[in-house]
Amino acid sequence: MSKLYKLGVVGDPIEHSLSPFIHSRFSRETNINIEYLPFKVKQDDFAPFVSEFFKDSLSKGLNITLPHKKNASMLDGVISKEAKYINAVNTIVKDEKKIFLYSTDGVGFIDDIKNKGFMFEDNKILIIGAGGAAESILYTVAHNKPKEITLYNRTIEKAEKLCRKYSHISKTESVLDHNSPYDIVINSSSAGLTGEFRPIEELNISKSTIFYDLNYSLTETPFCKWAKGISNNVYDGIGMLVHQAAHSYNMWFGIFPDTNKVIQDIEDMRG
Ligand code: ATR
Repeated sequence: MSKLYKLGVVGDPIEHSLSPFIHSRFSRETNINIEYLPFKVKQDDFAPFVSEFFKDSLSKGLNITLPHKKNASMLDGVISKEAKYINAVNTIVKDEKKIFLYSTDGVGFIDDIKNKGFMFEDNKILIIGAGGAAESILYTVAHNKPKEITLYNRTIEKAEKLCRKYSHISKTESVLDHNSPYDIVINSSSAGLTGEFRPIEELNISKSTIFYDLNYSLTETPFCKWAKGISNNVYDGIGMLVHQAAHSYNMWFGIFPDTNKVIQDIEDMRG
């Protein structure tokens, strides 16, 4: 039997996480022996939990999900430039002595968009929402040479603040632009999952506009339901979830697993 590596995902809630399923598929495909568990951890217990977890010499890494991504960026470790800038970490890697902190959400999102045959270069992007989920992709999107990014949020001040933070990387706006169609419309608002999502009136789109919900669920999200009424190019966040997981896996083991097979498995489960 090959060496066992201990891994897991830390969040609260964590019961419905698909990460254990995804990583068990990666493990089977790459022939690496892992134990990947979901850990439900309260906010105050987060840092002690991480420190305890890595005392075990078999512990190789962790994924971090809500509500701990910001807390994880404050852990004592070597943090990547992106994770530091966005104040969020979703992947921890341990070597002999140190822990390394990364965010693979942005690159996972971009990979999924490219995998679907689309790109950001010279495209007009609309991001709905201006919280942690928006910022988790904004750094990477802004670096992929879009024509402009509109951040559209219920609380406009939050959108304006994010626009200022990223305006040196890309052209950013906090009000809807009606002059030309948006090429990619991304929902990062948690309202997309809670069912409080309100359709945007008078949105300038074309036949080829892509709609992408960073949220996902085994049933259709309210954002996707709305978007399907106006577009044939509608996706939820399953592809991003699998791609960010693949980047984490690659950081732990130096092997990039096949994402398409796992995405297909999840699609099959959804029926
Ligand atoms: P996350 O880390 O998931 O992004 P967050 O930082 O709390 O969580 O941000 C949630 C986002 O969803 C915010 O942009 C929020 O809008 P506000 O900044 O105005 O709070 C948005 N959001 C949540 N509920 C919403 C609702 N009912 N209608 C519109 N936007 C909503």
